[in-house]
Formats: sequence, C-alpha cells, structure tokens
Amino acid sequence: NETDTSTYEANRPHLHYTAPSGWINDPNGLWYDAKDQIWHLYFQYYPYSEYWGEPLYWGHSVSEDLTHWNYSGIAFSPPKNNTGAFSGSIVVDHNNTSGFFNDSIDPRQRAVAFWTYNTPEDQTQFVSYSLDGGYNFTPYSGNPILNISSTQHRDPKVVWHEESQKWILTLAHSQKYEVLIYSSKNLTSWQLESSFSHHGIMGYQYECPGLARVPIVKTFHSDELPSNLTDSDEVWSNSFFDNGTNSSLPDTAWVLFLSVNPGAPLGGSVNQYFIGDFNGTHFVPYTSQTRFLDVGKDFYAFQAFFNSAGGTDVLGIAWASNWEYGQYVPTTPWKSSMSLVRNFTIRQYAPNPESVELNLNSEPILNLDGQLKNETSFKIYNQTLLPSKPLSYNVSKPTGVFEFDLTFTVDDSYYNNTIFADFSILFRGSRDREEYLKIGYEANAASFYIDRGHSKVSFVKENPYFTDRLSVLNEPYEMISSNLSSYKVYGVFDKNILELYFNDGSEVSTNLFFFSDRNFVGEIDISTKHDKIFIIRNFEFRQLR
Ligand code: FRU
Repeated sequence: NETDTSTYEANRPHLHYTAPSGWINDPNGLWYDAKDQIWHLYFQYYPYSEYWGEPLYWGHSVSEDLTHWNYSGIAFSPPKNNTGAFSGSIVVDHNNTSGFFNDSIDPRQRAVAFWTYNTPEDQTQFVSYSLDGGYNFTPYSGNPILNISSTQHRDPKVVWHEESQKWILTLAHSQKYEVLIYSSKNLTSWQLESSFSHHGIMGYQYECPGLARVPIVKTFHSDELPSNLTDSDEVWSNSFFDNGTNSSLPDTAWVLFLSVNPGAPLGGSVNQYFIGDFNGTHFVPYTSQTRFLDVGKDFYAFQAFFNSAGGTDVLGIAWASNWEYGQYVPTTPWKSSMSLVRNFTIRQYAPNPESVELNLNSEPILNLDGQLKNETSFKIYNQTLLPSKPLSYNVSKPTGVFEFDLTFTVDDSYYNNTIFADFSILFRGSRDREEYLKIGYEANAASFYIDRGHSKVSFVKENPYFTDRLSVLNEPYEMISSNLSSYKVYGVFDKNILELYFNDGSEVSTNLFFFSDRNFVGEIDISTKHDKIFIIRNFEFRQLR
C-alpha cells in the first residue's frame, strides 16, 4: 500500500533518536562521560526485525549535545539466544567502590551497568562494567547480584545517595505492584531496605522505576496565584504536605518515576511519578496523588541520566511509543524512537483557583546549530480570530521538522455553554492537504485537544488502539483580567512525532502521528467559528531543517 510507506530515509525523525534499523524500546544506562564530554544512551534493541524479539541487546549511541546522536554498536548481549538483556541503568563508580577498576581507568569513565537477565525461568539482576568508557562491557563474575526466583523482577536503576553514602537500587517487582528499594556500599552486595507498593495507577504491572533528586524552583509569579494568596511562602505552608504542618520549601525533592503497562487510562503504557522524600531507605510521597510525566500516548519507560553532568539538573529520556501499537507503526527499516531529552524541575502550580500543588516541569533540550536552522519562519502578532478571517500560511520548503510558539488569550465575555467555543490549528500535508494534524482549544471544557486521525495511512485508520483524539487540561498561564486568561504552547514536530509543552512545561503531551510518504507539513491554518473569543497574541513558526 503506497500510502503506508515510511521506507524513505526522508521520513525518519531527525531530532528524536532512532536506531539504523530494527526494533528498539526503553532507554537504558543513561550517563555522561565528563572526561570525553559525551552523553551515552543505550536502549533495548532487537536489530533483526521490526518487532520485539530475543536475543535482546543493549544498543548504544552517543551524543555531544543531547540532540544529535550517533549509533555506536551493540554494547552487550545476553549470554544465550532465547534470553534478553532487559532494561537497566549505568552509574559512574568514581571511587571504585566496586573494585572493578584500577588506576588506569579515569574515575569519570568507570561505568558500571545494571540490567535484568531475562530467561524463560526467571529474571535476575546482572552487573557488567566497562574498561573503555562505555563501548564494551565485561560481566561481573559473581552474577547474578539479586535473585528472588521470580519471573517478574526487573529494571534496576541505581543512584548515589549522598547523605547515607550509599548506592540505591530500585527494582520493579512488577506483578506484586512493588518498587523494591535496595542499598549497597560496593555495587555488588545489596540489602533490601523497603518496598513502595500499591501506589498510583497499577494497571497490569509496574516497570522501570527510578528515583531522582529534583531541584525545586521557588519563583511563583503573583499573577498566577489564587487571588486570596500573595506570596510563595504562604502558599507553601498552606498546602504542601497532606498534614499541613511543614512550612519551609526545600531546595530539592525526590521524585519516584514509575511506568505502568498495560492499563493506562488512555490505553496501554503510561509513565507516572510521585513527589516526596527519600531518606536513604524509604521513599515517602508528600501526598497520595499520582501524576503523569506526559499526558500523551507516546512517552514510556522514562529514565533519568545518572547524575546528569554532575550538577543538579535532572535530564531524562523516554521511549516515544506505546506497547499497544508500537510494533505495528508504519515505519521501516527502523521501528520506534526516543523522546527528546527533557530537563526537569519541580515548580508550584495552580491547577485551579483554590489550590497550589507541586508539579514536575519539563523542558525540551534542543541544541540546534546553524546548519540545522533554516530561514523559513513566520510570525503572527495580536490577531483577533474572526470566522470571516481565517489565517493561512504556507511553508516554503517543507521538511517535517519545525517548532512553534503560541500564546493566545481567551475572553470569557464572548461565549457561553451553548456553543462549542473553540479555535483550531491545522497542520496540513504539503503533498496532500487532506492529511492534517489538528490541535485546538475549547473554552467551556478549558482543555486543549489534539487530533491525529486525519490521515490516509491505513495503520492510522485501522488500528483501534491508535487513539486519535486526546485532550490536555491546563491552568491559565496568566490571568490578565477576570475575563481574560492567557495560555502558552510550544510544539516540536519531527516527521512523525509531535511534542507539545503547555505553559512552559507544566504539562506535556507527546504523540506519534503518520501521514503518507513525505507528506510533510506545508500549510498551517488557524480558524474559529466564533467572534472575538480568541486572540492570537503570538504565533511563531520556525523550520528546524
Ligand atoms: C518496559 C519493559 C521492561 C523490560 C523491557 C524489555 O517497556 O517491558 O520492563 O525490561 O521492556 O524489553
């Protein structure tokens, strides 16, 4: 079927990592080599087909800027054919606590990998170390380091806990709904400290847990505050902990990331997180709330870089797909891609006028050099949307790789609940304008919508799990007056992936979409059926390739 091909290299995502060919899923072993200044990304890799299969390897790619990645081979394989080197993580063992290294290995390159050895009999935890900066690995002679005789015990993520001077390993005891927390002094003998169990969305099973200490950004603009509150300290003391007692805002909080599949509210795979405290043995969430790292359908198995660049930034990557349909998407010879790298902070956020909550904020990292940016761009300022005046723009050289910034205001005095008060933006294909990605905002529902269903690709039309209509609830970015609220959206289109960041990253929705071969976005139409409700304060389109 001609409309179903993405066989041309031109259709390959440009800013999102894809392997040269074959199947990939979870990001693994994310670490930064501070000596050679190289970022490492490993991933679940079955190079022989476009479907998940065994032997499952750790594929490897490297980057100098977190945006451009180069494939650098298979890092390691499982010992037998019908087995897998399942997901896991890497730490830098600077002080050689493991004893795997000698002085000839630079402390900044002492990479130790933790992974799950999956066999038909069980899942056990293995350690491998690298003597060449992360390209080749030697299995530890004492493997496995953890074995509880279970077939559902996987995805070790190790971090360093400064206060207790210990390594901490989190593991999914998947079908018992437990995140097991272990500690160690030497990376090879581990002691079970606690279990964080039965929290949040449980679905069929837990996968890929991980802890990270995330910086808290304390600024909170007063115009974003509920009207009865005036400063951030007050906000904090009133609503921080469930018991309402603690009053001071810490500089950091711990976040527990946890993947669930299948059984997400939107279907299939979802990544949730909890914000709380970790004392070296137990993780205690501040509230009983679970939240989603990304509210789209294609963001799963998130992992944070080990210590990132040694600073306090928390950076991480997810697999930009969903187990419901990831193996059947119409791309070849590659199957699946990673998300962009995101930088995380915790911020205060008012989901409604009476509450202020802590929220994980996501910012994309895009390092675009001069070569990548081309000249095509356009801007719209202060245009009141009117049914009689739809806006339409053509992209001169469509490449399928672009970003946009949008700020708009909603005036409550011009609509009521008897109309579907929306405006929409259609990103239409350049070869066939009847294929388009539609996003928009409707004022009564106070939500953004995304519609990826207007495609002639049979996968999109026929796969019942490839849900086409999604929505994102968001708080106003700013209340300009009691009737007038403003919203902000940043979007990155990359061939068949759209990442949307709302209000500077308080919510993100990442979704795949598929148009026919090389039908890259070539026209952008902004319209409404209603007078004066919406003003486009700013719309900027920038081609990135
Ligand atoms: C999550 C996952 C992990 C497992 C890996 C196998 O997507 O199921 O739990 O380690 O994929 O490829």
